[in-house]
Amino acid sequence: MSEAPNPHPSDSGTILERLDRVIAADPTNAMWHWRRGVTLAAADDFPHAREALEKAISLLPSYADAWVSLGGVHVKMGDRKSAKRAFRSAADIEPLTEGAIAGYLSNAWLPEFAVWGIKTAIQGYWRKLRRRTQCADATQTVQEAINFGDRRHYAAAIDVLRRGLARCPGYVPFAKYLGAYLVMHGNRQQSRQLLEKMVAWWPEDPQTHLALGVCLSALGDVPAASAVLKRALALDPGNHDIQVALSAIGAAPPPAPNLIETRNVFDNYAEHFDSDLVRGLDYRVPEKLAAIFAERGRVWDRMLDLGCGTGLTGVSLRPYTRHLTGVDLSRAMIDKAKARGVYDMMYQGDCVAFLQQIDATYDLMVATDVLVYFGDLANLFRAARVRLVPGGVFWFSVEEWGGEGYVQQLTRRYQHSLSYIRATAHTTNLRPVFEQQIDIRLENRRPVRGLLVALERTDDFSEDKSWQFQPGSTPSGAAST
Ligand SMILES: C[S@@+](CC[C@H](N)C(=O)[O-])C[C@H]1O[C@@H](n2cnc3c(N)ncnc32)[C@H](O)[C@@H]1O
Repeated sequence: MSEAPNPHPSDSGTILERLDRVIAADPTNAMWHWRRGVTLAAADDFPHAREALEKAISLLPSYADAWVSLGGVHVKMGDRKSAKRAFRSAADIEPLTEGAIAGYLSNAWLPEFAVWGIKTAIQGYWRKLRRRTQCADATQTVQEAINFGDRRHYAAAIDVLRRGLARCPGYVPFAKYLGAYLVMHGNRQQSRQLLEKMVAWWPEDPQTHLALGVCLSALGDVPAASAVLKRALALDPGNHDIQVALSAIGAAPPPAPNLIETRNVFDNYAEHFDSDLVRGLDYRVPEKLAAIFAERGRVWDRMLDLGCGTGLTGVSLRPYTRHLTGVDLSRAMIDKAKARGVYDMMYQGDCVAFLQQIDATYDLMVATDVLVYFGDLANLFRAARVRLVPGGVFWFSVEEWGGEGYVQQLTRRYQHSLSYIRATAHTTNLRPVFEQQIDIRLENRRPVRGLLVALERTDDFSEDKSWQFQPGSTPSGAAST
């Protein structure tokens, strides 16, 4: 591209310098060329503006805003025929673009545009009104799709969104969620094409960037995903979803869990939890734990079921305890658990806060498929240790992370490494007495790798290595629990 002429107003000069730098770094992004064209046009440099806008269109022919801007530049340069062609292209691509309507109106005084311009503007206006009626239930439709998505019924979510998009083509959340669910359903290339188009259309929308970033990471293009997600975070600093997505590709530390969001997810999920998880995803951790307990034959005095959910673990382990207490964040999950009639006491709230506030002690604590909502485990382990009697044991499952420490996945669930669990147990004076690799459940028809671990409260912790981990088996010398 040729040099911008001098002198420019000082403002646009600075903007142009910045635009030149981003274009040099990313020459294939149509949006920057469009911005350059608009800036040059504002400085009355129409030949260079036309060049920049044509470049934007060559990179992304469906870029309606760029066509509208080019039409305006043609008008200023007296080329009415090309202007009309450019406006028509914009109208063909996106008849409802605000910019396109403004473009037709502002140029309607020109004789060639008089009838066509006003007619197009009026048609656009009516279509816009009609679309508003057709889209009146759009938020509800998105919610319907999310409800399917939360239950991992991605094909149903995609179907709802596709129908919504056909009825209401310009509605960003339809396309955004469609892109995300296509990724989860495995149609990644299709999703990438859709989302790249959307990012060009809505360059200021962080959610669209987020969806594209997630798609690129699913495709394994980590550098591109990282760049798109960082742009998303710049547009919406502090956004939890974007931080999670960056952490999932190792480009940022894992954010802390969001308890309100977790509670809402399970309040909405309670109705379908048992059928989806047990029947749909072959979730069997409570039964696996019950089989180990049955083999050992011990009956405990007081068991605390942390994150008891709908009570699946309560039902499985009830024969092995004289007293059973359940605690969970979600009221709807607790209501389901209560209906099973196996708990002696139930509490609603965060289990760390619960452990820190009570006086009671337990000889057995269990948390099945709950630590996946925790991230850092130190506070939980510390609080559990205080409420365990000496020799008491804390059994739990995690999704296994093959690297160091722990990460948060795009599914929002955390994964923990065995070394992190051991190190955290060590610093909180708990001793691993059981470690076994298990399959937690299915995800996209593949097993999710996990660990079943038991930590014992020990008041004389020593560097006892006798429980060294053997994949798929109980460590030798494990304490009998
Ligand atoms: C996947 S469900 C597992 C439920 C049950 N343990 C089972 O195995 O069926 C996770 C449960 O943990 C609960 N949960 C997540 N974070 C929690 C927290 N900080 N305190 C208490 N409950 C929590 C959720 O509300 C949800 O009911």
